[in-house]
Amino acid sequence: MTSPVVIAIDGPSGSGKSSVSKAVAARLGLAYLDTGAMYRAATVWGMATADLADAGAVTTAVRAMPLVMGLDPVAPGVELDGKDVAETIRTTEVTTNVSKVASNLDVRAELKRLQREIIDQESGAQAVQSGGRGIVAEGRDITTVVAPDADVRVLLTASEEARLRRRSLEVHGADDASAVEATKDQVLRRDQDDAKVTQFLVAADGVVTVDSSDLDFEQTVDAVLAVVTQVTGRA
Ligand code: DC
Repeated sequence: MTSPVVIAIDGPSGSGKSSVSKAVAARLGLAYLDTGAMYRAATVWGMATADLADAGAVTTAVRAMPLVMGLDPVAPGVELDGKDVAETIRTTEVTTNVSKVASNLDVRAELKRLQREIIDQESGAQAVQSGGRGIVAEGRDITTVVAPDADVRVLLTASEEARLRRRSLEVHGADDASAVEATKDQVLRRDQDDAKVTQFLVAADGVVTVDSSDLDFEQTVDAVLAVVTQVTGRA
């Protein structure tokens, strides 16, 4: 029996991080944690129960947030107060507001605590006993702040052009010049806002960079799996 493995994957929006992380977790039989979804859920909860401009009130709200993260890479659910919010957290309103919540350092400390708890639960003694094989956790600060001790740490990057094209396809269903232009402001502004609080554009010491600009989805998944094999010796 192999011991549970922790794989940390960071990257900017449009790098393919979420879909690649899910596929890697599914291939290796690991749990999957989308920490961006936790920041999005905190934003939904903050909007519903506090004034987003009041950082103290948002922190208090997030500390009491009834959040349940589903860890199945094939169907990772997000439940807030017993309700499925998987779709709500992806709305434009939430995407526009999430950086405000993610730049609140007290909120970050609380979400880091929750993330650490989930990672430990999926990789500690309890996981070994229940046959757990480990976890893939993805976000912006997993390789550096949440799990700098992870067995495998990957920064998934892509050129600005490739990231804009992918986001445009996702949001507008097209990647022609006007669709890409319409996505540009949102993606670049959010990356700039996010980069003020988390450093995810350059790999930290010991973090392996995988550049997906010229790779398709399967090739990117294979590239990350190759890093896992190289670092841990696991196929
Ligand atoms: O990956 P995403 O777009 O779902 O992330 C939503 C937001 O949460 C994004 O603006 C950055 C922030 N985030 C963060 O600050 N730290 C993380 N570990 C994950 C996401």
